[in-house]
Amino acid sequence: MIDKVGVIGAGLMGSEIALVCALGGKDVILSDTTQEALDRAVANLAKVVEKGVRRSFYTEAQGSEALARIRTSVDLAAHADCDLVTEAVFENEEVKANVFRQLDAICRPDAFIASNTSTISITTLASYVSPARRARFIGTHYFSPVSRMRLVEVIPGLDTGDGTVGVVMDFCRDIGKAPIRVKDVVGFVVNRMLHVFMIEAIRLVEEGVCTPEEIDVACKLGLGHPVGPFELNDAVSNSLSLQAQEILFDAYGERFRPRPLLKQMVKAGYNGKKAGRGWYRYDPKPGQ
Ligand SMILES: NC(=O)c1ccc[n+]([C@@H]2O[C@H](COP(=O)([O-])OP(=O)(O)OC[C@H]3O[C@@H](n4cnc5c(N)ncnc54)[C@H](O)[C@@H]3O)[C@@H](O)[C@H]2O)c1
Repeated sequence: MIDKVGVIGAGLMGSEIALVCALGGKDVILSDTTQEALDRAVANLAKVVEKGVRRSFYTEAQGSEALARIRTSVDLAAHADCDLVTEAVFENEEVKANVFRQLDAICRPDAFIASNTSTISITTLASYVSPARRARFIGTHYFSPVSRMRLVEVIPGLDTGDGTVGVVMDFCRDIGKAPIRVKDVVGFVVNRMLHVFMIEAIRLVEEGVCTPEEIDVACKLGLGHPVGPFELNDAVSNSLSLQAQEILFDAYGERFRPRPLLKQMVKAGYNGKKAGRGWYRYDPKPGQ
C-alpha cells in the first residue's frame, strides 16, 4: 500500500502530481532546488484548488485538506520514508540521473521510484539506480493539466518487476487516474498518435485545404476532441512540439518528419500562447 509519496520537481507537472496525490489522501513531500520554486508552486496550487472547488470537482474542505497534506523540502533526504517517489525535473538525462543516484541512496530498499519523463527510455533511466532497485523503477507518464487529465501511461523498463507494475497501476487508480500499461518505446502511445495527427493538420494548412481555425472546428465538432490541434500546439508551445517531433523522427523516420511551416513558426518566434502569437493571436498581458 502506498501512503506516503514524494515528488521531485515542483514545476508544471510535479506540482499538480503532488496535488492529485494529496487529493487522493496521500501524504506528500514536494521537492525542488529552491524554496522560492516551492513557494511559487504552492501558491499556484492554491489557485488550481480554487478552480477545482468552483467546478465542484471537490469541496473547499477537501481542497484545503489536500493542500495541508503537501509538505515541501529542498532536501532530497526528506524522501527517506516515502513508499513511492515520482521524479518530474527537467527533461534532461544528466539532471535526472543525478536525482536518481541520490534517491537510490536515500530511499528505503522497498520504496518505488518513478519517472514522469516524456522522451527518455525508462530502461536508460533505471541504469542510474542500483541493480537491486531496478525491479522497483518504473515510468509513470502523466498528462497536462494533471489535475484534469485522467490518463497515466505506466511504463515498465527492462528489469521492472510485474509486482511493481501492479502496485503502481493500483496506486494510479487510487488517486483517481486511469492507468494503461505501455512498452518502453520512444513517445510511448499518446505522443506517437498525437504527433502524426499534428503533422497531418499542419500539412493541411500548408496545402491550403483549410485554415488552422477551421481544422480546430473540424476536430472539435467532427471528432469530438475537447481542443483542436492548433489550440493544443499554442498551449504546449510550438517549440516543444517541434522538439518532440524531432525525437520521434530520429526514432521512426519519415512519418514524423516535422513540417517546414512548424519550423518557420518557431524561427519567427510565434511559439504559442505564452509568446502572444502562435497559430492564433493572443492579447498581450498587462505591462507587455
Ligand atoms: N509539460 C508537459 O506537458 C509534460 C507532460 C508530460 C510529461 N512531462 C515531463 O515532466 C517533467 C517535468 O516537466 P515540467 O513541464 O513540469 O517542467 P518544468 O520546467 O515546469 O518543471 C521542472 C521543475 O524541476 C525542478 N528541478 C530541476 N532540477 C531539479 C533537481 N535536481 N532537483 C529538484 N528539482 C529540480 C525545476 O526547478 C522546475 O521547477 C519532464 O520530464 C517532462 O518531459 C511534461
